[in-house]
Amino acid sequence: MSDAVQALCFLAGANSIFYGDKLLTTPNPGAARTRNCSRGSGYDRRRGPPSPPPEPRHVAMHAPAGLLQADLSQLAAAGRRRVRREVESRGHGGVRMRVAGREVLAFCSNDYLGLADHPSVVAAFVAAAREWGVGSGASHLVSGHCSEHVALEEELAAFTRRPRALLFSTGYMANLAVVTTLLGRGDRVFEDRLNHASLLDAGLASGARFARYPHADAAALESRLRRSGPGRCMVVTDGVFSMDGDVAPLRELASACRARDAWLFVDDAHGLGVLGDTGRGSLEAAGLAPDDVPVLMGTLGKAFGTFGAFVAGSHELVETLLQTARTYIYTTALPAAVAAASRASLRVMQDEPWRRSRVLEHVARFRREAAGFGLRLLDSCTPIQPVVLGSEAAAVAASEALLARGCGYRRSGRPPCPQAARACASRSRRRTSRPTWIGYSMHWRASPARRAR
Ligand SMILES: Cc1ncc(COP(=O)(O)O)c(C=O)c1O
Repeated sequence: MSDAVQALCFLAGANSIFYGDKLLTTPNPGAARTRNCSRGSGYDRRRGPPSPPPEPRHVAMHAPAGLLQADLSQLAAAGRRRVRREVESRGHGGVRMRVAGREVLAFCSNDYLGLADHPSVVAAFVAAAREWGVGSGASHLVSGHCSEHVALEEELAAFTRRPRALLFSTGYMANLAVVTTLLGRGDRVFEDRLNHASLLDAGLASGARFARYPHADAAALESRLRRSGPGRCMVVTDGVFSMDGDVAPLRELASACRARDAWLFVDDAHGLGVLGDTGRGSLEAAGLAPDDVPVLMGTLGKAFGTFGAFVAGSHELVETLLQTARTYIYTTALPAAVAAASRASLRVMQDEPWRRSRVLEHVARFRREAAGFGLRLLDSCTPIQPVVLGSEAAAVAASEALLARGCGYRRSGRPPCPQAARACASRSRRRTSRPTWIGYSMHWRASPARRAR
């Protein structure tokens, strides 16, 4: 054992210590205490610890408040300043929330199956927090990876019918990990132009040649693939598009990728748990086999009702991410209690398929009734239902009117998309509007009435 390790044992006052990924045990802790540990460890017992680095020179760090204020004013003038609404309480499966002192129906949550406050999910969370504490204490590769993570990864791999799965703290980080780890300079990445921001950011950050193809246009992708040169090539798409709610043409994308030897990476954040005969998501709904889509990402913060994300695929894919993905390695592990709660969610999801059926019944009912009112909907069979309102002003007015009638909402908008409102269905009840980016569209989530549990 090196002097440095002996010194650490001495400092810890313990006879065992983690060093990298190994648990080291000093055979005789007393010996460590008496030994001169100065050589190589930077610590000299006679002189004490090395002196701290000199204080950094004081640099005046005035926030450029004037400049920032001008930027913020510009945002506000363009109607693009976002507002955070404080949710004062939430109840009834997340269906009702209190905002600005009044109770409203929530139409803007992704908790499609009403699992975020399901008694068995909450109980699993509490029990694991008692056992493991609330924080994981370190990253997965140091000492943050516990039995709950191991079990959840195995269960997610089985659920997605893939050899392995790897947990991430968020979907954003998982997406960054996949694209930036697997691609670099000299490679090519093709993305649907309406992909989630995290996928677009990942493509740009990877250093690969980045191209966007027209939304859900497999033929356009195919012709771009045909024209592309040598090197690794990845096609990246949402399974269910998070703003418009439509499903990617996965069969066509898979066949274009197969023909050109490109990897298909699907982010199924909004499909898992909801689509497919057994809730396995948009790949199951499209009848695709795991080999058709070598890289699958799923989030736990949506239909699972918890938090976090995972990537599922081959042993080699997962091992590569585990060994080299910076957003996996250099961050604190998901708390064990969240992993335990996600395991409980996965069980409920599989044991109670009626939740999925209810969501889809609500989608159908919402579409039927909206059409009866003459509302124009975009083509979506998922809980995300965009309603075209024609103008930003109409979207804003509708949002305000809905709030006044007790329907909670949040404004957001997407400049390139038609002025629309979006509604989503979840198992629980009605969910609030959310005008998408810049008030051009609103999002509605209609959720089914809650069943007695
Ligand atoms: C399609 C899609 N991918 C990725 C993410 C990011 O997941 P997370 O919230 O876990 O970071 C989201 C939404 O949040 C999403 O809608």
